[in-house]
Amino acid sequence: MHRWHPVSVVSDIRRGEVAGVRIGGREVVLWREDSAASTLHAWEDRCPHRGMRLSFGFVRGDGLGCLYHGWQFGPAARCRLIPAHPQVRVPASIHVAAYGVREGAGLVWVSLEAAEDFPLHAPWGPDAITPVRSMHVRAGVTHLRHAIGGAENMPVVWRGPVGLAVHEPVAGQAMLHVVRAAGAEGPSAPFLSRWAERLRDAVECGGETAPVMGELA
Ligand code: FES
Repeated sequence: MHRWHPVSVVSDIRRGEVAGVRIGGREVVLWREDSAASTLHAWEDRCPHRGMRLSFGFVRGDGLGCLYHGWQFGPAARCRLIPAHPQVRVPASIHVAAYGVREGAGLVWVSLEAAEDFPLHAPWGPDAITPVRSMHVRAGVTHLRHAIGGAENMPVVWRGPVGLAVHEPVAGQAMLHVVRAAGAEGPSAPFLSRWAERLRDAVECGGETAPVMGELA
């Protein structure tokens, strides 16, 4: 499981949207097709033409366009159109590195190794899950994981109806992702959004996190 990183809540990448995320310093572009399938993709955030970040690009149907010179890449990550030379048949060698991506527990999971062992039947907890928010924390991922009572092999830490997950965008930094069981009793999404800010502040200041975690009891 450790090869799958929870990088975002699913509601942050809507149909036709693009976003940049980092995993251990690696830059990744997430984008969702503006198509009936609304398929989600995770690629290296770098255009093979001149290196522009594809997270600055735009979605056109089932493809992603680069902002700089408009090269367009299809769902298989191969370049399919060079606007300056529309008659040219684009060589198959022009492509972007694609990563494994899945959606589960209200979160987007990425594997840089395109691992096939995503635990589709993992103990996510409740069946219906509502994404709440993702938040950057200026602290090491180990520190944050300890604060929420998690371990490296726990993809999601459940506190009643509240699910917490973490990943490391760059060394010394962390991202906290919060979800909750849909329709369950317990803290509301607006409460959890503010609660996450209190936890972040406590972690960043080196303060006591147990009282903040205790609010979920
Ligand atoms: S850098 Fe992307 S199309 Fe030129």
